Amino acid sequence: MLRRLHQEQPEGFAFTPENKAWAEAQMTKYPEGRQASAIIPLLWRAQEQEGWLSRPAIEHVAEMLDLAYIRALEVATFYFMFQLQPVGSVAHIQVCGTTSCMICGAEDLIAVCKDKIATKAHQISEDGKLSWEEVECLGACANAPMAQIGKDYYEDLTTARFGEIIDALRAGEVPTPGPQNGRYAAEPFGGVTSLADYVEGRAAGNASAALAADLGDTVKRIDGTETPILAPWRPATMEPGPSASDVGKDAPEPASKTTDAAKANAPKKKEVTPKPPEETLEAATSGTKPAALDGPRDGSADDLKKIKGVGPKLEKLLNTLGFFHFDQIAAWSEGEVAWVDENLEGFRGRVSRDDWVSQATILATGEETEFSQRAK
Ligand code: FES
Repeated sequence: MLRRLHQEQPEGFAFTPENKAWAEAQMTKYPEGRQASAIIPLLWRAQEQEGWLSRPAIEHVAEMLDLAYIRALEVATFYFMFQLQPVGSVAHIQVCGTTSCMICGAEDLIAVCKDKIATKAHQISEDGKLSWEEVECLGACANAPMAQIGKDYYEDLTTARFGEIIDALRAGEVPTPGPQNGRYAAEPFGGVTSLADYVEGRAAGNASAALAADLGDTVKRIDGTETPILAPWRPATMEPGPSASDVGKDAPEPASKTTDAAKANAPKKKEVTPKPPEETLEAATSGTKPAALDGPRDGSADDLKKIKGVGPKLEKLLNTLGFFHFDQIAAWSEGEVAWVDENLEGFRGRVSRDDWVSQATILATGEETEFSQRAK
């Protein structure tokens, strides 16, 4: 299936302050220089905030991670979980159309979508509130047919019940997720045949449905105030992101089971040596600073993003250090590479990792590298 950006795009994109703090906390999960690994969670949070991924959102995430735009676009267009077109303002409904669900009535559910939402998948309903699509198996085959709505699953659906759910969403209600035919989970339709004692004492709704009901964010656009930022991997001495007490003061407490589990799984905080202040860092730097310029020659800098490993943020940083041209980089000695490697705050080691000198040597002659050719 061809996946391309929507023809109409918003002017810009920005994370809410809470989502921005969350995104920056995610980036600290990875070793220095590997922040690009956070691409999927960041794109996902952008989609959770807006409902879909616009071009400005993809570019914003690319800039945060210092990636060439094309790299972020590749990820966004590859995974079907990313919506590249606007969706209904209340909910986007994903009906499973794979074998078990198809045998159990998925086609009838799709007919309900066509009747109540829009005749075609990805079209928004006339009132702007809903949209739908058919998706591949969502892993709830024992409760077929089913649909994912927002964050949660609605299972054991009939056309009548599905129609009621759609009407309720349109009216601003959020029906309880989970099995819709009275089943607790995926036990036999005729009732349990084992573990009967356990079943007697169970709470209403299985664990997933109960948690969904507790959190109440099934179709909510996520602005970051819902739950505290959980970042147990961050060392105690690191600059903290907004804490649970700063963010989501009004948000409901997450279910106690989740909180306890998170605490139990949280790794012990390690003692880390605090970073040296700027002056001592400078003194400890090895190598020699390469010759720098006050500005680009003839007022026109080379597009340093043609070098693999250099994104918009890193290009800006290089310019700040006085490097604007391929021939400057091509001329760096080993000692100079070591100096630059150490002084790329947040991107240490990139010069040698991606062998910028060899790339710049080719680019300085006017030739293209394999990367710059592809990036075009
Ligand atoms: S076939 Fe529908 S969830 Fe697996």
